[in-house]
Amino acid sequence: MRETASAETLLSWYDSHARDLPWRISPSDRKAGVEPDPYRVWLSEIMLQQTTVAAVKEYFLKFTRLWPTVSDLAAANDGDVMAAWAGLGYYARARNLLKCARVVTQDHGGVFPENRDELQKLPGIGPYTSAAIAAIAFDAPETVVDGNVERVMARLHNVETPLPSAKPELTALAVGHTPTQRAGDYAQAVMDLGATICTPKNPACGICPWRNPCTARHAGTAPDLPRKLPKQVKPTRLGFAYVGRRADGAWLLERRPDKGLLGGMLGWPGSDWSETPEPLPPCTGEWIETGVEVRHTFTHFHLRLTVLTADLGEIEPDRGHYVNHRDFKPSDLPTVMRKVFDVARHSFAVD
Ligand code: ADE
Repeated sequence: MRETASAETLLSWYDSHARDLPWRISPSDRKAGVEPDPYRVWLSEIMLQQTTVAAVKEYFLKFTRLWPTVSDLAAANDGDVMAAWAGLGYYARARNLLKCARVVTQDHGGVFPENRDELQKLPGIGPYTSAAIAAIAFDAPETVVDGNVERVMARLHNVETPLPSAKPELTALAVGHTPTQRAGDYAQAVMDLGATICTPKNPACGICPWRNPCTARHAGTAPDLPRKLPKQVKPTRLGFAYVGRRADGAWLLERRPDKGLLGGMLGWPGSDWSETPEPLPPCTGEWIETGVEVRHTFTHFHLRLTVLTADLGEIEPDRGHYVNHRDFKPSDLPTVMRKVFDVARHSFAVD
């Protein structure tokens, strides 16, 4: 007989199979009364937006080591936070992270609000993150819907409508499954199921706690769901990047404007990124093409950068500022700028 997909079944699977994650309170500790720290829940959820668990772990550990509380983070220097975030991508998240830490510290006495509506008024917290924090930090019976949850629901109920049209239907189904008790563990359990068993490819249906009630498994459609509308092809943009070095070894860098791609991040001065970019060196100098192109893919386009280098002697730049060699850390740069540096560094005699 077909069972219903109950939260209890999933929660007992979670009790023995929960992933051990640095921001997570294990189900046994939770049952023993250990309370989650809302700061750590919030920080992890912001980092996990559009980023994998594997990539987030080291950043989460670094941030909590550098800034153990929300007020420590609020007091941090903007440049230090952007540098610590470098490589994680979607840099608007880092700017909103700081804004949010400052609002929580200044307007809420350093205490995160507990309900979803109040959480959603904070910078960088949308419907997904407010539900995740309310559920995981405060055990509010909110439904968290991310890509994992959509996939699990699409299969459990054999929803053939493609994404994104299927979103409202999948959300309604997810709401129907959400329990009033242990809502935080339940939210994390569905995510873990989606990440470890109900995976996009080759789902491990044989060991799934919900294998019996899963409609797609019975129909044989599980690996094909959720259906998705064909992806748009990404256009390619071109650009120039200029890596200049002063006689004393200092590097010419430029902080990008807060608004826009890589906003607030340190990078190499460059041209616009378009189909027909105009060369735009940051100062006079003998700019020489390295002959190696840097390729990087952003959410909406592929980028190909021509990298030029110059020994600038004592030239004062029109744009940007020099950073002393000993203060320069390539790891403070966003990934595309780090790739540019890896190409350009070979052009300079001293390292
Ligand atoms: N993805 C997004 N939030 C998560 C969480 N709290 N645990 C595991 N994976 C996640």
